[in-house]
Amino acid sequence: MPEQIFGRKISRFDQVQSTNDLVRDAAEQGEAEGLVIAAQEQLAGRGRMGRRWIVPRGTSLQCSILLRPPLAPQHASRLMQMAALAVARTLERELHLQPTLKWPNDVLLDGKKVCGILTESSIVGETLAYVILGIGLNVNYTMRAYPELAPFATTLQDVLGYAVELPCLERALLHESDALYARICNGESLVDEYRARLAMLGQPIRVLERGEILQGIAEDVDADGALILKQDDTRVKLLAGDVTIIK
Ligand code: BTN
Repeated sequence: MPEQIFGRKISRFDQVQSTNDLVRDAAEQGEAEGLVIAAQEQLAGRGRMGRRWIVPRGTSLQCSILLRPPLAPQHASRLMQMAALAVARTLERELHLQPTLKWPNDVLLDGKKVCGILTESSIVGETLAYVILGIGLNVNYTMRAYPELAPFATTLQDVLGYAVELPCLERALLHESDALYARICNGESLVDEYRARLAMLGQPIRVLERGEILQGIAEDVDADGALILKQDDTRVKLLAGDVTIIK
């Protein structure tokens, strides 16, 4: 059995500002990869694109993982894909759900976001010194209490109709992540598996990128994790952004 990296060391906190920040501090102090920091509550949880990520205390999976992958910085997106795939595979295997993905790394159930992933990297010279994978999975609460979010976001409890054992889910996620990380460290790209789970390919989308709104067809995701947006006869390659599928 190969050595487990994810969850080699797990630190649990009652209340933190952001688990990503605690992992960054540990990384800067030389902590080895595999450290997981999990919290019952985040007071300053962060999402992508400067958004806040605040969920009711004790209800959900909120954790950050430190990785030191042997990858060039331009391949850092492989880790985002890995994290999204690990969550999707966990929901499928443990709860028999049928998740899909939304570029770059949201996990959806019934078309609504159930999990967000925030990756933060430190690049030193030409190398990826470390990557922090911050995972927020909405579990045991209902979005009905948040009418402004309910059209776009969901929780496992809302989909399943019952509460889920958080420790089992966390264990399964770390196990799934470990298996995928071994493949990444062997130089494999998971882009084919990632692409196969994307809900939006071939569909008209709107992308918000650095204050600009772009519209087109979501044509593909390339090996570097960039979204290829087809606009008439041109193609735009996007490295980041927020996608809305146009219905
Ligand atoms: C997003 O979809 O915008 C990403 C959300 C990421 C939230 C997680 S919760 C654990 C970790 N700590 C944070 O402050 N953010 C991430």
